[in-house]
Amino acid sequence: MADSTTYDVVIIGGGPGGYNAAIRAGQLGLRAACVEKRVTLGGTCLNVGCMPSKALLHASELFAAAGSEFANLGIDVAPKLNLPQMMKQKGESVTALTKGIEFLFKKNKVDWVKGAGRIAGPGKVEVTAEDGKVSTLEARNIVIATGSEPAGLAGVEVDQIRIVDSTGALSLPEVPKHLVVIGAGIIGLELGSVWRRLGAKVTVLEFLDRICPGMDAEMAKTFQRSLTKQGMEFRLGAKVTGAKASKKGVTLSYEPVAGGAAETVEADYVLVAIGRKPWTENLGLESVGITPDKRGFIETDHWKTSAPGVWAIGDVTLGPMLAHKAEEEAVACIETIAGKAGHVNYGIIPSVIYTAPEVAWVGKTEEELKAEGRAYKTGKFPFTANSRAKINHETEGFVKILADATTDEVLGAHLIGPCVSEMVGEYCVAMEFRAASEDVARTCHPHPTRSEALRQAAMGVEGWTMQA
Ligand code: FAD
Ligand code: NAI
Repeated sequence: MADSTTYDVVIIGGGPGGYNAAIRAGQLGLRAACVEKRVTLGGTCLNVGCMPSKALLHASELFAAAGSEFANLGIDVAPKLNLPQMMKQKGESVTALTKGIEFLFKKNKVDWVKGAGRIAGPGKVEVTAEDGKVSTLEARNIVIATGSEPAGLAGVEVDQIRIVDSTGALSLPEVPKHLVVIGAGIIGLELGSVWRRLGAKVTVLEFLDRICPGMDAEMAKTFQRSLTKQGMEFRLGAKVTGAKASKKGVTLSYEPVAGGAAETVEADYVLVAIGRKPWTENLGLESVGITPDKRGFIETDHWKTSAPGVWAIGDVTLGPMLAHKAEEEAVACIETIAGKAGHVNYGIIPSVIYTAPEVAWVGKTEEELKAEGRAYKTGKFPFTANSRAKINHETEGFVKILADATTDEVLGAHLIGPCVSEMVGEYCVAMEFRAASEDVARTCHPHPTRSEALRQAAMGVEGWTMQA
């Protein structure tokens, strides 16, 4: 490629934000390049995030079910773990997905520029390739989509051998005897579940006095009870103060946040999962006058940064660090650049935890509605009363709907149970159309399906739940 080429859009970062932006730009006839420093496209999500974690969650769930639930169904098996094969199939799926993005780039005439991108002034992106060669791209618009990386914890140095972050925890060479997870958030509980199901003892140390901050408190309590039943141990209100790693394991020290004597815990592996931080280092932001906020996030207004012609989307900006949020912003940002009306409804970005049971939610929690002083009605339906869940022996959990007390508009949906990741989208659509809970309650759902619980919960808002 020539050193100087003018693009309509140069995107820095090839994750869900970057690759969706690049593809949408190509679809709209814009000349687009995507600069990615990793050897494959797909960013955190495809390479070391959403996809490999879901591959391991799926395989480990089946392994655990084969060892316990299958016998009850009349299927006698004695499962034996083949960890290298489990890791291999995970790797193969990831490769297929990253190749898929390469294909979509070619199909939509997007140039993939390999190397680290740096803004070198208005309309200029300097790319340093792996061999050190530097080239400059000219751009009418620059989109920053550099994502995020794991946040570190002082005194607990990640060596990716004994003390790992999420990337290391996706590729442990053996099942830990004792895995200690720091942080009872989404990564800690998903990856903790994987290794628990494969046979590890798992202890979770959490700074707060509850798990999953941000989740509806009733759901979080139910979720913790379920994980505890599966053998996960929780130590809440625990402040980790340091770690000593040896060849064989780690001694972790922590103290109660509320005060009291310090304690230690021995582990053969430690997973640090206390959040992620935006990736803005060496991006040349100063060359266009952008100053990230105190935590390193780039502030935007409708994906525009403070610098003309420079946009930012995804994990590097404020808001939930989720692949589908990055994708929504990517499409809206490019459509805005193309002169269309880009739009993201930030009130309807669902969250899912892919454990068993799964947890999924969208919209407001009860705590948020109370804090806003908004009057609301609740409809609730347990999976113990759902016939499909019953015949499948998957009766743990419930669906809870929150609707405005006066207008009946659905304000939030909170689901814990089987396959709820696939069901929460129904409530996203309902909320996008500003449906009343009665609209859902009076919509025919197929029988027998778990999705009937969504309808029954909505019927519960007016007190006419009827399925037994
Ligand atoms: P990223 O995916 O981080 O992509 C940014 C890319 O930019 C990276 O490839 C990086 O190499 C590249 N880059 C950075 N700087 C430069 C530079 N200077 N030059 C060139 N390239 C650069 N979200 C979900 O919605 N669902 C899930 O199930 C889910 N599971 C997850 C599991 C794990 C273990 C983790 C860690 C995350 C998970 N996430 C999940 C979060 C999700 O991965 C992120 O929200 C998403 O990847 C953000 O997309 P992005 O495009 O903003 O950034
Ligand atoms: P998180 O923000 O979900 O959870 C971090 C947890 O660590 C919180 O409970 C927090 O209170 C706790 N914590 C913070 N500092 C601590 C300390 N010093 N000691 C003990 N506990 C501490 O972050 P996590 O799990 O690292 O995930 C990062 C992001 O990745 C999430 O925000 C999520 O958006 C994304 N993700 C999404 C997934 C999904 O959608 N299924 C799966 C995995 C990650």
